[in-house]
Amino acid sequence: MTAEDLRQRYLEFLRCKRHAVIPSASLIPREDSSTLFTGSGMQPLVPYLLGENHPKGTRLCNSQKCFRAEDMEEIGDNRHNTVFEMLGNWSFGDYFKKEQLNWFFQFLTEELRLDPNRLYVSVFSGNKDIGVPRDEESVEIWKDIFSRYGIQAQIVEEAEKKGLGGGRIFYYNESKNWWSRSGKPADIPVGEIGGPDSEVFYDLGEELSRHAKSPWKDQPCHINCDCGRFIEIGNSVFIEYVKTEQGFDRLAQKNVDFGGGLERMAMIMQGKTNVYETDLFQNVLDKIESLSGGKKYQDNIKPFEVIADHLKATTFIMGDNKGIKPSNTDQGYIVRRLIRRTIRYGRQIGIDSQEPWLPEVVKIIIGDYKKVYPELSQNLEFIIEGVKEEQAKFEKTLNKGLKEFKRIISSKEEADRVLTGQEAFDLYQTYGFPIEMTEELALEKGLKVDREDFSGQLKKHQELSRTASAGKFKGGLADVREETKKLHTAAHLLLAALRKVLGNHVHQKGSNITAQRLRFDFSHSEKLTDEQKQEVEELVNKAIEKDLSVICEEMSLEEAKNNGAVATFEDKYEDKVKVYKIGEGNNVFSYELCGGPHIDRLGKLGYFKIKKEESSSAGVRRIKAVLTAKE
Ligand code: SER
Repeated sequence: MTAEDLRQRYLEFLRCKRHAVIPSASLIPREDSSTLFTGSGMQPLVPYLLGENHPKGTRLCNSQKCFRAEDMEEIGDNRHNTVFEMLGNWSFGDYFKKEQLNWFFQFLTEELRLDPNRLYVSVFSGNKDIGVPRDEESVEIWKDIFSRYGIQAQIVEEAEKKGLGGGRIFYYNESKNWWSRSGKPADIPVGEIGGPDSEVFYDLGEELSRHAKSPWKDQPCHINCDCGRFIEIGNSVFIEYVKTEQGFDRLAQKNVDFGGGLERMAMIMQGKTNVYETDLFQNVLDKIESLSGGKKYQDNIKPFEVIADHLKATTFIMGDNKGIKPSNTDQGYIVRRLIRRTIRYGRQIGIDSQEPWLPEVVKIIIGDYKKVYPELSQNLEFIIEGVKEEQAKFEKTLNKGLKEFKRIISSKEEADRVLTGQEAFDLYQTYGFPIEMTEELALEKGLKVDREDFSGQLKKHQELSRTASAGKFKGGLADVREETKKLHTAAHLLLAALRKVLGNHVHQKGSNITAQRLRFDFSHSEKLTDEQKQEVEELVNKAIEKDLSVICEEMSLEEAKNNGAVATFEDKYEDKVKVYKIGEGNNVFSYELCGGPHIDRLGKLGYFKIKKEESSSAGVRRIKAVLTAKE
């Protein structure tokens, strides 16, 4: 079964269970300030998990492009990619545990015909401190499911200490069985949503266990031990909690957020034991083989996988209609790291780095994915030019930098196995070595880098060259507390007022909203005069005084355009969209496409005040504003 068939089958399976199929959202989040990239299918859907109505209903599914920078160093085991596709389905206060667990198991065993004896599951063991109980409900459902296949499912606690113990259902604590965008219950900010989850693992066979070689060889093997034997293929998250100052509250609705890695499922279906052996990577690996003058993938697993993964990630990020290219900030910095690491690993397998070889691989990747993600071919030129330029830039300094690195290493005494922050900073500043790359190079020689010292050096440098850091900020809402919602509504008022005062060339370029303040970037080339700022404030405050209503309307994208709704139309929208209208009849103040959430009446906002107006980047200004008690 090809990966393409698998993707189709999954979506069709859910469609028959009355799910609407939605397109993959952008890899660069539009309304989510918690991460730089979309790392899971639920991220663009947070407002609906909180109770906003989605125009397509309460059951959705898709295949979502995801990127997880934190997995960069994991490439080379048999299961990790930085960029991958997540098959996902969601219930917004509709079905819950019983349907979800049954359906996913049905998909695996009936649609994909996987052997149920090879499937194992994990559930949340509960945590009294945060007031979330053990997930016995899921355990009962799983017992029932397995028994229908003639399997008496044994339950095991503390598998980390005891091992498999003939079990089928395993309890783990929040380190394994709790999910939210920003991590574990203790670490997440107030207002963040999440919940216990239940994962399904596939047993690839005991012979694949690398347990004997693993750093945990003295601990028993279990489904979550990462030795290579068991692979997680799907995660059902039961999002029913929101973090508060005191602990956790229940959300108004019980949601399901399911995600399963397409590459991993394809690997199992194709009888492989490594995701890079699937049809998804075949053409790329062949190309790398020929570029390297015939070196074999099987003899050079890590460099081949790093190159294949990192160039795929580069292609997907740069090809996402957001104009991201290599730079020293935010998403651009990640692209820079991906490309530079690719070049370094290319050298290890003898790829002639003087030739612009990266575009060759990029073209293969675009060819493989153009049907599913047409935006990649639309951005082909942009990606090719970008990688070429970055390669040329790095090649200029790489040799000298490596020489300098060697010099530093050889100057170290046996007892002094640490690179100072200054040394790492010079490699970064003069030769363009991302700090992570210096760390990796150092590690290969058994050295560490003083990261704290490096950060200090970097900070000092940034303070000296402030202007360079006027980059863009991460977009969106920090959370959905009432105060944050108010400022989100205020951002709509601000955009409408700016257009009234400065003209209709003003468009939103980005926003970042917390419970304390809003930051808003918009297209305009000149500094605002004091009069203009005052006028904008007055317009907004007058609208607030009138206590205008905030009404949400749903319509087709076409209709929204015809009605003159304000939007960044180059963004990808669903064919059915939500438009927020502030005011009514002849008194409509703002009319804007948006996913929400907003408050319902302006009277609650208080008093709007601009704190700062400054340049953000060429042709883009930034306003910082707050809401205070009425003056
Ligand atoms: N959000 C969950 C995850 O990423 C399920 O989709 O695992």
